[in-house]
Amino acid sequence: MKKIKTGTMLKDKIMTTIFYEPSTRTKCSFQAAMLRLGGSIIDINVDQSSVQKGETLEDTIRTVSCYSDAIVLRHPRKSAVTDAAKVTEIPIINAGDGVGEHPTQALLDLFTIKNELGLGSMTITMVGDLKNGRTVHSLAKLLTRFCGIRLIYISPKELSMPNDIVEYLNPFIEQRTDVSLEDAIKVTDVLYVTRIQKERETCEYEPYAITPELLKSAKKKMIVMHPLPRQSELPPDLDDDPRAAYFRQVENGLYMRMAILDYVVKKF
Ligand code: NCD
Repeated sequence: MKKIKTGTMLKDKIMTTIFYEPSTRTKCSFQAAMLRLGGSIIDINVDQSSVQKGETLEDTIRTVSCYSDAIVLRHPRKSAVTDAAKVTEIPIINAGDGVGEHPTQALLDLFTIKNELGLGSMTITMVGDLKNGRTVHSLAKLLTRFCGIRLIYISPKELSMPNDIVEYLNPFIEQRTDVSLEDAIKVTDVLYVTRIQKERETCEYEPYAITPELLKSAKKKMIVMHPLPRQSELPPDLDDDPRAAYFRQVENGLYMRMAILDYVVKKF
């Protein structure tokens, strides 16, 4: 996919993006991916659509399905995408459903880990808002497909990894919550940082800051990942460190979503 700039694989196909929550990377990378594969895009602006007249998600999906070969949907309600998929025959791709899941981000994260370090035995430390951050939910679940992964969770107690996910992972992955960030850093291969999701929490939490100072005790060969957008948890003076992989992650998102669209649209 990296080599394809003007592909024709999805010529004559139309992808519609419907985002009920803000997005920069997910939406633009899906659109760029479709254009690179030779397809066309419709982008529904929900602020200007019949959603404002009270149209239900189901009716919007039924309607858009008549014009499209695939729908990419982001919605603030957990499981909204699964529900939407029940009213249409065409593929619906989950671009984030509230505090639920973000499966295409998980795939691009996995692709990044594989590219940067290979997928062997490793320690992955997830830092930040593990309760509301949907990217860590999907990534953690995806990691159960691989052997030798150890997970360390670092978060305020109130923002810890949801129980249903911890239980889902339990038979496959060793999960630890009793390690400090300072100790975790020393043994970590992938430091996966997330922002505190202020829009989903009423309390204020002090974010963990991954400073260059802190990274001094990290392995030479490790990576720092973040789904972005970032806030103060990832200061920009980290960006020049070769271990900072978050912008490489962004680029991988394009290739991964090209692969996803090619697979999904052709299959149906
Ligand atoms: C994330 C999201 O929307 O879940 N961003 C993304 O898609 N890359 C992370 C976030 O909003 O914090």
